[in-house]
Amino acid sequence: MIDVILGLQWGDEGKGKIADYLTPKYDLVARFQGGPNAGHSLEFEGKKFVLNTIPSGIFRKNILNLIGNGVVIDPIRLGEEIDRIKDECPDYHERLLISQKAHLILPTHRILDAASEASKGKDKIGSTLRGIGPTYKDKIGRSGMRVGDILDPDFNQKYRSTVENHLKQIEFFGFTDFDLQTEETKFFAAIERLKTLKLVNSEYLIHQYISEGKKVLAEGAQGSMLDVEFGTYPYVTSSNTLSGGVCTGLGVAPKHIRKVYGIFKAYCTRVGSGPFPTELDNALGEEIRQLGHEFGATTGRERRTGWLDLVALKYTCMLNGVDELIMMKGDVLNGFDELNVATAYNINGVITSEVPANLCNSQIEPVYQSFPGWGKDLNLNAGYDAMDSTFKNYVEFIENYIGCKISVVSMGPGRDETLVRN
Ligand code: GDP
Ligand code: IMO
Ligand code: MG
Repeated sequence: MIDVILGLQWGDEGKGKIADYLTPKYDLVARFQGGPNAGHSLEFEGKKFVLNTIPSGIFRKNILNLIGNGVVIDPIRLGEEIDRIKDECPDYHERLLISQKAHLILPTHRILDAASEASKGKDKIGSTLRGIGPTYKDKIGRSGMRVGDILDPDFNQKYRSTVENHLKQIEFFGFTDFDLQTEETKFFAAIERLKTLKLVNSEYLIHQYISEGKKVLAEGAQGSMLDVEFGTYPYVTSSNTLSGGVCTGLGVAPKHIRKVYGIFKAYCTRVGSGPFPTELDNALGEEIRQLGHEFGATTGRERRTGWLDLVALKYTCMLNGVDELIMMKGDVLNGFDELNVATAYNINGVITSEVPANLCNSQIEPVYQSFPGWGKDLNLNAGYDAMDSTFKNYVEFIENYIGCKISVVSMGPGRDETLVRN
């Protein structure tokens, strides 16, 4: 049996916190897509960690963590990440598994990412420059390199011919701002380290777990509005971030997926370029950015902020088949006089509650529903039912609009700042 947690907006919804919160109920936590473009923050016992490629179950004893075949791995960054967690998780070696079919991000993939972005000028995607797009491009183009390849005697030869090909593309872009030699030294050292980790045939492992009745949590990265099919294309990432991606990203059949948890913030953020209908490009947006510490966990970039967009949220709940919603960062809206949520779009005078197919070319005016704000000092100790009624109205309006239960409300980054509703 597999449950899924994933982000319903443009990423950074708080997936790391909730994956960590939920993991005690599971035997294995698996990442199924994305790579080190992700930054998942976890806070407990006064400590804070940011994970990029390693699943968020790594800090819980006795739980296995799998980097699935659908993920793209940068061995250099994975090594750095292991260094950050190894004191907290001295047994990581036993509990971290890597699919041999996961694709490798080579130094030249990162250079290609930078070259491609530079060539786009003002139309750039705003990529994290982690080499994600070029690596998935090679995967689909059938010229990628996989983790299992590092065990082959002809690995270096294959690497060299792939890099030759990349260098021609980089030359075509006219991009020269890189030092490949330094990066390659780090890369080959990281490959030796990767060889010491548990490289597995992960689809068999997952099936064995399922057949033994064990529980698997699939942890999404990015968000549904960044999905390569249904997101704000071309301002998206290069993987399938939706629940459908779990099947191909781990090698499991749809019938094994039991429950989909969808995570959203009580407002919206997005980092990088692309449409954002409810964006608050003003002082209020800045206030939300400061209160919510809306700066990238991996890149430190400013996140754009705006009101909650229920049109987009309902769309992504539909695409994912969300069973339960989890609302994050309610505390960031504490003390506002008035809050807005978009309930429809006005596109050239036509009111619609559908996300248009050509979102990037549409002039969207959000239609807002206003709510009175709630106080600054909400007491979490007495549980959800004892919360301020203005706060509960906000939560329950969203629930009714989407037609899906909000089962958990998060009111702070820590494990204990989490309200579970009956
Ligand atoms: P992810 O990529 O979805 O895992 O999210 P990020 O870690 O990139 O960003 C979420 C940020 O919000 C992190 O800094 C979390 O520690 C923090 N966070 C998570 N839940 C809450 C919450 O309920 N309230 C507040 N104030 N911060 C939260
Ligand atoms: P987590 O898992 C927020 C965004 C980038 C850019 C676009 C493409 O922490 O929620 P890419 O490097 O993937 O080619 O960039 O996607 N992006 C994210 N935004 N959270 C993320 O991950 C993201 N991963 C990629 O900012 O707009
Ligand atoms: Mg993040």
